[in-house]
This record gives sequence, structure tokens and C-alpha cells, in this order.
Amino acid sequence: MTLSLRSLAEECGIWIGAAVGIEPLSSDGTFCDVLAREFNAITPDNAMKFEHLCPEMGQYNFRDADEIVSFAQVHRMHVRGHTLVWHRRIPQWLLKQDLSRDQVVAVLEEHIFTVAEHFRGRVAAWDVINEAVEENGLFQDSFWLRGIGSEYLELAFRWANQADPGALLFYNEWGGEDLNRKSDAVYSLLQKLVQHRVPVHGIGLQMHVSLMEPPDRQGLVANMRRFADLGLQIYITEMDVQIHNSPGSLKQQLEAQAEMYREILEACFSISTFKGLSTWGVTDRYSWIPQFTGYPDAPLLFDESYQFKPAYWALLDVLQSR
Ligand code: XIL
Repeated sequence: MTLSLRSLAEECGIWIGAAVGIEPLSSDGTFCDVLAREFNAITPDNAMKFEHLCPEMGQYNFRDADEIVSFAQVHRMHVRGHTLVWHRRIPQWLLKQDLSRDQVVAVLEEHIFTVAEHFRGRVAAWDVINEAVEENGLFQDSFWLRGIGSEYLELAFRWANQADPGALLFYNEWGGEDLNRKSDAVYSLLQKLVQHRVPVHGIGLQMHVSLMEPPDRQGLVANMRRFADLGLQIYITEMDVQIHNSPGSLKQQLEAQAEMYREILEACFSISTFKGLSTWGVTDRYSWIPQFTGYPDAPLLFDESYQFKPAYWALLDVLQSR
């Protein structure tokens, strides 16, 4: 077997994944080749979001998500389902309605069962809840919180587990990578869920980071460790590293970026329940970051023409030394 992130990750027993959009997957052959060669896990970047799956009331359309899942099956890759419950990407037809608590509960239950049963046995891990806590540690305001109250979190995990008892269930969050008010609040939440025997198996740390605001390394390790001590798996779910505005030449920026990828994967390996790391995309060509920040950037492992970047070699090196 040729040397790749994938082959080394498989020897280490971890997942190395990437988020994918339906467009490059159906039109860019090089994208598909690199994806299948270098990664053993896939996260659909948008295709499994509520609005995408169910743009019209009562009419689910699984075409794009199924295409991504089929690709994963053909290439023997794990699928991380993303995401069952989020405050964003809720379809307009739903937001427009004025519903009682019981009705919102029923909508959420039906959505989770419809989606998780559809993919039962094909999605290995679900981001059941995405981003439910704000930076100040309070629950994120949302259609679900307003309609149901914070009990929606526990309900969602229980329903996902009933719909697909074989899937690993994650709570996924951004900005809670090291020790801060958000990660403290997420920790308390998960501690409570674990105590109440809610079926939650892991914490996803998104890891959208920037060279200008690096996560605190010791804080990251301490944070991952406290979640691991709750018995939870640790997964870096959406890593990308922005270089915009960081000092030095492009070459120096890309080297600093590689060091950040290296440090974070090394930190992960110090945690016994570390399960895997996924980047939010394969190539800088299709990264979501320029649209999100408004600046050109190069946050991933492959450049716009699919050349290996220093960050790629850094991860390869960490895996090789395991
Ligand atoms: C992003 C997608 O990549 C974009 O295409 C879309 O426009 C916005 O959402 N955290 C998440 C992901 O959990 O769902 C987001 O994905 C990136 C931030």
C-alpha cells in the first residue's frame, strides 16, 4: 500500500477525515482521488443539514447525502453524520410556524428518526447536537431551546440512539477547544448527560483556528483530558488553520501552519480516548474560510492544485512516528 495519511491512520487505529461538498464530489475527479487515497472518513459539509434534507415541509430528499455516503461505502470510509440538531440551517417552512412545545418536540423527534433511520448502519458517528452553547457559557438561543427548553439536548441523544443504536453519538462545538467559559459550560452539560445515562459517546472539537489566535496547547490537553475522564471519545471534527494576516512570507506562514497541525495531532495522541481528526475540506480550492472571513486564505492540507502542503507532511510525520 502506498504511504498516505489514510494508511498510517489505519495502522494507528484512528480516523483521518475530511468534510466534502456534493459539487466537487460529483464533478472533480482529482478531488475524489485525493479524498479516497488520503482519508478514511467523510463528513458531508452541508448535505445532511435539516434545510438541505427537507427544504419543503414533509418532503425529505436524501439524494446528495446518499451520494456522499455511497462514495464512502465504495471506498470503505467511515461516515460522520453532520448534523441532526443545530440552530442554523433550519428550513424556513418550519421557522415560520407558530408551534406549541409538544409540536416542536414532535418535529424534532420525527426529524431525528427520519434521518438517523435512513442512514442506519451507514453513518458510523453522528454529530447529534451542534453548537448548543454560547461563548458566555449560556445555552445558544435557538428554535429548539425556545420551543422545548434545554431538555431538547437529552431528548435528541435518546432518539438518535433509538433510531440507530449502533452509531456513536457526539456533541460537537466550536471555540471550546481549550479552557474557557464555553468549554466549561459544555463540560458541565456533558457531565450531567453522562450522569443521567444519556447515550452520548464523544465530544467533537471543531478546531477552526487561526495562526493569529492559536489555541492554548496546555489548555487543549487539559480540556480533552477532562472529557476523556468522563469516558467520552475525543474527535477533532472540523480542523482548518487560517494563515491570513500572520507574519512572514507565504512559505513561513505555511510552515507555521504545519507546526500548528503537528502540535494539535500530537496533543490528541496524549489522550487515551482520541478517536480521530477531520479537516473541514480537502483542498484550499474549496475551503469555506474565504467566504466566512471575507479574506483569501489557505487553511487545509492540499493547495488549490492538490499539491501537498507542509501541513500534510507534518501530519504524516506525526502518524509515522506512532
Ligand atoms: C459550513 C459549510 O462548510 C459552509 O459551506 C456553509 O456555508 C456554512 O457552514 N461549523 C459547522 C459546519 O459545524 O456545519 C459549518 O459548515 C462550519 C462551521
